[in-house]
Amino acid sequence: MTHEKFHYRTQEELEARAAELGLHIPLAADTHVLAEPVLFAGRMVPNRLGVAPMEGADSLPDGRPSQLTYRRYTRYAESGASVVWFEAISLVPEGRSSRTQLYISKENLDDYKRLVEATKEAGLKKNGYEPFTVMQANHSGRYSNPDNHPAPIIAERMPWLEQFRAADDSCIVTDDYLDRLVETFGEGARLAKEAGFDAVDVKSSHGYLFQEMIGARLRPGKYGGSYENRTRLLKDSIAAAKREETDKFLVTSRIGIYDGYVYPYGFGVSEESPDAPDLAEPIRLLKELRDDHGLSMVCLTMGNPYATTHVTRPYDAGMYVPPEHPLEGIARMCAGIGQVKAAVPEMTIFASAPSYLRRYADLYTAGCVEEGLCDGMLFGRLSFADPDFANEILKTGRLDPKRVCLTCGKCGDLIRSHKPTGCVVRDSEVFVPFYKDYLEGRDSLPENFRG
Ligand SMILES: Cc1cc2nc3c(=O)[nH]c(=O)nc-3n(C[C@H](O)[C@H](O)[C@H](O)COP(=O)(O)O)c2cc1C
Repeated sequence: MTHEKFHYRTQEELEARAAELGLHIPLAADTHVLAEPVLFAGRMVPNRLGVAPMEGADSLPDGRPSQLTYRRYTRYAESGASVVWFEAISLVPEGRSSRTQLYISKENLDDYKRLVEATKEAGLKKNGYEPFTVMQANHSGRYSNPDNHPAPIIAERMPWLEQFRAADDSCIVTDDYLDRLVETFGEGARLAKEAGFDAVDVKSSHGYLFQEMIGARLRPGKYGGSYENRTRLLKDSIAAAKREETDKFLVTSRIGIYDGYVYPYGFGVSEESPDAPDLAEPIRLLKELRDDHGLSMVCLTMGNPYATTHVTRPYDAGMYVPPEHPLEGIARMCAGIGQVKAAVPEMTIFASAPSYLRRYADLYTAGCVEEGLCDGMLFGRLSFADPDFANEILKTGRLDPKRVCLTCGKCGDLIRSHKPTGCVVRDSEVFVPFYKDYLEGRDSLPENFRG
């Protein structure tokens, strides 16, 4: 496969290419459905557009938000999106993805209170409503780099993943550690509530620890092997977080429903083909999270950005040439999420990964909602690129084609090299200097940013 550039000048051209590839890409005639409110668990958010969680690697060394973090979140809130799903925030130092990943603790709680307050105020002032804010609690697991050097904490050995990042038996996490982690996620929920977030996400996606555990068929003991054992960490952590739930504070989860690994590794994978999801287990999990744990809203995603990047975020430029046409990734994502939504229709489901579609990401989102595949969409790379994306859709009916994401992959380069992350192309004044540091192998210190 080679990179096929995105060259669709009209919606018809895009539809024709999808048809040629035998794919169904939902595209609505207009975006009016996106201005409708979404209701879940007694809350109402005024539109169907959200900002996806995206690590910015711009915390201060002790985990507090920097000026760059404030800049990102106030811009997200001003975008008009009704949901701002905060990036992966670590609850333990050893689970940080970098020295500059956000890390919340009792000691820095006041800093997070100020960040959430500033985010809500920015939305209220600009748009007349506060965004619904979700704190994504994560443990980076295999991708932990607390000092900017790999220090993997893994569920089981996975030779295929270890071509991309070395690990050995000493990296396998113990059951005792996982028992304690359940309580840490309960405590994390309490911190999120006290900081003023509207919800906490017990994250299980993208190859991080919880996602890896859920696919750990070869792991012995109470957290591995059977479906019941593999889902134990996630369910127990959700139950611990649920102790903090109130009518103003919700527990949710961003769940990876398909990893794209070769069986017996990964979740939602088919025994026959690594390219085709088998959603029987993910659907069972979502039903149990709805019925036994009372989850009413979730975000669904796919893939592992370190190993199956094209599955998580379809793209057509950058260092890795994807093994499939990006439209295949889009079609897999919306069909898979739609299959889960059909099985749990009363759950509110936010879908993921519209950015590859550039100026058509809005019609695609509306198409997915109209076809009942999801209730709303979280925009990732596009919200780095265009800080007004939701207001453009809500006020003019369409995205501004000159401001959309080009899926160039440079934000991915920045995050992988632990540099403050944003759009190098559309927000160049801030992020080109960090990109130069990346190219020239220099450190970048978020605290040196003077915005
Ligand atoms: C730089 C970068 C950082 C990301 N960080 C996170 C994260 O912290 N948590 C998460 O769940 N997903 C993360 N993602 C994945 C996005 O939320 C999203 O699922 C993905 O980019 C696909 O959406 P898009 O096509 O709109 O970009 C990240 C993606 C990028 C590009």
